Amino acid sequence: MQRVTPTARKKLYQFYNKWKACTSCNLHENKRNYVFWRGELPCRFLFIGEAPGEVEDLRGYPFVGPSGDYLQSIIDEAELREYAITNVVCCCPLKDLMSRKIRQPDKTEIEACSDRLIHFIQVSQPNHIFLVGKVAQSTRKTLHKSNPEVRLHDWHHPAYLLRQSDEKREVEFSKMVAHLEYLKQMEEENY
Ligand code: URA
Repeated sequence: MQRVTPTARKKLYQFYNKWKACTSCNLHENKRNYVFWRGELPCRFLFIGEAPGEVEDLRGYPFVGPSGDYLQSIIDEAELREYAITNVVCCCPLKDLMSRKIRQPDKTEIEACSDRLIHFIQVSQPNHIFLVGKVAQSTRKTLHKSNPEVRLHDWHHPAYLLRQSDEKREVEFSKMVAHLEYLKQMEEENY
């Protein structure tokens, strides 16, 4: 469910107006949808993944495919509220048009989308950002520079965890849920 306060709605409107027809890099040419965000705004917790995959490209929301189901199960297990989800790039990076297979975004595409990402962080105002996977972690310096007060946490990408053994996945699942529960409690104590 998308929950947006009236103040955040205003900022979100400006955000959409600025980025709804973005041509900062070539990825916009073959995307089906700009995939901006899902969740609650403003939020205390923001998850940043890599790029929209096939399902996200079709539906227009981040992390709504198999990786998203897994990420969502961690969030739900921790009973986290006040979170939002976005990606380092908002258009699906394709290997080629024929197969529509997905690839990782390259450095130029990541840089081209960084103003949009920083703008979204201003709209969402999180206290904690989870850099989900190596591509998201490559933006750490940029995000720290633009938001020095926000705490950045490195997380495994769900697609990586889905390729691991059941045992490893279970261990990591428990660790990530415990991490969220801890931060949630800290946040509740601070407010
Ligand atoms: N879906 C997303 O939206 N982002 C990812 O990083 C992977 C799948």
